[in-house]
Amino acid sequence: FPKRFVVAIDGPAAAGKGTISRALAARYGFAHLDTGLLYRATGLKALRDGHGTIDAPVAIAAARALRPEDLTADGLRTGPVGEAASVVAAIPEVRQALLDFQRAFAAQPSGAVLDGRDIGTVICPDADVKLFVTASDAVRARRRHAELAKSNPAITLEEVAGDLARRDARDAQRTDAPLKPADDALLLDTTELTIDAAIAEAAALITRKREG
Ligand code: CDP
Ligand code: CDP
Repeated sequence: FPKRFVVAIDGPAAAGKGTISRALAARYGFAHLDTGLLYRATGLKALRDGHGTIDAPVAIAAARALRPEDLTADGLRTGPVGEAASVVAAIPEVRQALLDFQRAFAAQPSGAVLDGRDIGTVICPDADVKLFVTASDAVRARRRHAELAKSNPAITLEEVAGDLARRDARDAQRTDAPLKPADDALLLDTTELTIDAAIAEAAALITRKREG
């Protein structure tokens, strides 16, 4: 009975985690979960239920009541929702409420790739392959700015850079499941890599691991 293959991909905002994860899922037939969406959906719900401010009890209730359809809601990728996601993500009861869903997802027979901040450290510490994807602050800000400017042409690079820096600092400094590489994670710096080159490096690691 072959063990179910799990790939854990962590790293700071806009490093390329989602792009690499989606490509690996397509190539190897793995199921893919962007775990940031769980926190973004919780943040959006908490903002709405709290009429624009985030209150811990409201955020915890929102996380416990999260439904699959909430993960495809409009507006999850905006800057303010990213900010709300990182605020609710620092609440231990919110993280606890989202844990079982992520572990069950990882156990699918097809194998799975999960991307986030704590996949290799907390959610799937026994993952077969752990990647910590990074890129320089400037490059990450430029990439995220290019994405957000498509729907919001007025957004500035400085604003995006400030948002990412604040969110990364909050994610790295929280006590529960902070953003940091697992001891056995492989670092993949995508600063100078094209998307195809980053995917090829990640795929090579998986192929090597699978072939033992
Ligand atoms: O999931 P995460 O926030 O880490 O990043 P992403 O959404 O995969 O990537 C952020 C943006 O950077 C996307 O628009 C990607 O197409 C782009 N990207 C890139 O230009 N070069 C790479 N090597 C990886 C991603
Ligand atoms: O795409 P990007 O990297 O900008 O963010 P995301 O992956 O959608 O995550 C949004 C926020 O959710 C992060 O800034 C973290 O605060 C939180 N998050 C987390 O705490 N743990 C995860 N496994 C995934 C996301």
